[in-house]
Amino acid sequence: MAQVRFNHVYKTFNKVEVVHDISLDVQDKEFLVLVGPSGCGKSTCLRMIAGLEEPTDGEIYIGDRIVNGVDPKDRDIAMVFQNYALYPHMTVFDNMAFGLKLRHFPKNEIKKRVEDAAEILGLQQLLKRKPKELSGGQRQRVALGRAIVREAQVFLMDEPLSNLDAKLRVATRAEIIKLHQRIQTTMIYVTHDQVEAMTMGDRIAVLNGGVIQQLGSPQELYDHPANMFVAGFIGSPAMNFIPEAKVSTEGNATVVVLEGIGRVAVPQIYAERARAAAGRNLTFGIRPVHLEDASLVSEGNKAVQSSLDASVDVVENLGNELQVYLTTGGKNIVATLDPRARVAAGNKVRLYVDSDQIHLFDSDTGESIF
Ligand SMILES: Nc1ncnc2c1ncn2[C@@H]1O[C@H](COP(=O)(O)OP(=O)(O)OP(=O)(O)O)[C@@H](O)[C@H]1O
Ligand SMILES: [Mg+2]
Repeated sequence: MAQVRFNHVYKTFNKVEVVHDISLDVQDKEFLVLVGPSGCGKSTCLRMIAGLEEPTDGEIYIGDRIVNGVDPKDRDIAMVFQNYALYPHMTVFDNMAFGLKLRHFPKNEIKKRVEDAAEILGLQQLLKRKPKELSGGQRQRVALGRAIVREAQVFLMDEPLSNLDAKLRVATRAEIIKLHQRIQTTMIYVTHDQVEAMTMGDRIAVLNGGVIQQLGSPQELYDHPANMFVAGFIGSPAMNFIPEAKVSTEGNATVVVLEGIGRVAVPQIYAERARAAAGRNLTFGIRPVHLEDASLVSEGNKAVQSSLDASVDVVENLGNELQVYLTTGGKNIVATLDPRARVAAGNKVRLYVDSDQIHLFDSDTGESIF
């Protein structure tokens, strides 16, 4: 069994704290993604699991064992680095075999493991080549192969796709998911790309400023972001935020009023939370896909009168949808609209808001209210 556990882990470099009180349980065989912007401490977390950095405080467990102070080579982990480098003068076979040779594995065992890994990665035909004779994607697979041959309990990957072009990245992403299904190892995968995180992770830990903002399944993070950071980071195009939202009661209905912009009905299940927050500074949140040209929405829905008025700045037609950039109440927002939407740059539009999909945040703390 190889769970990985962080118990109140801190890391400070030269008096600067870069990891703050991280507690995290990665399950055996789970694919966990650590995602966050550049400099948020992702690589540092991974390097602490690998033993390349020691926590300043707190414990790291691999399986049932505390590994603080344990030498990297005794941790039973394999790592693919952010800037992996293959040995240019060695063949693909020797690059993959190198770590095992260092550990004095018998020759026939090395051969078997390298050939097995080559088969998993489709590198059988390339074992005699040198790195310079490979494409970027093939080199990437060799770097993965180097880690696979270790047959370690925990597989750590630090932005392994960052050197690939967009198309290859998508293909290799799928390969890594297949690889995980095949080798059934605990994987911890670091990326700054929220699409990679969403598509690959069983669970995602969103990191910012050395602090875990939220841990959950991709769908949980998308549907119920814990705060404005996660709401803005997960999902593309990003969620729209409109500040200075007011909660008011109209008859039986609770509504969010956006002065000079529009008003949106609060779903019944959130009405109480919204009313309780009425005295606070509030920010309204809505994803671009949850807006629509009101003239396309049926009368039944219009009755709830959840809409925003905006002026259209730019319309991008992607064929299956329109990406529309608008201004409302001095704020720039984005809407992903049906291609039949009647929008043109310079015109005004009334946007229907899918009120089941709205969010409300405390503007001061960023915390989600619902
Ligand atoms: N050895 C070190 N000495 C001093 N500061 C360091 C060291 N390693 C990392 N840092 C700092 O710690 C912070 C976190 O670095 P880390 O490499 O973990 O970020 P990251 O999330 O992996 O970023 P990126 O996406 O750019 O790779 C950064 O501010 C970085 O400058
Ligand atoms: Mg990094």
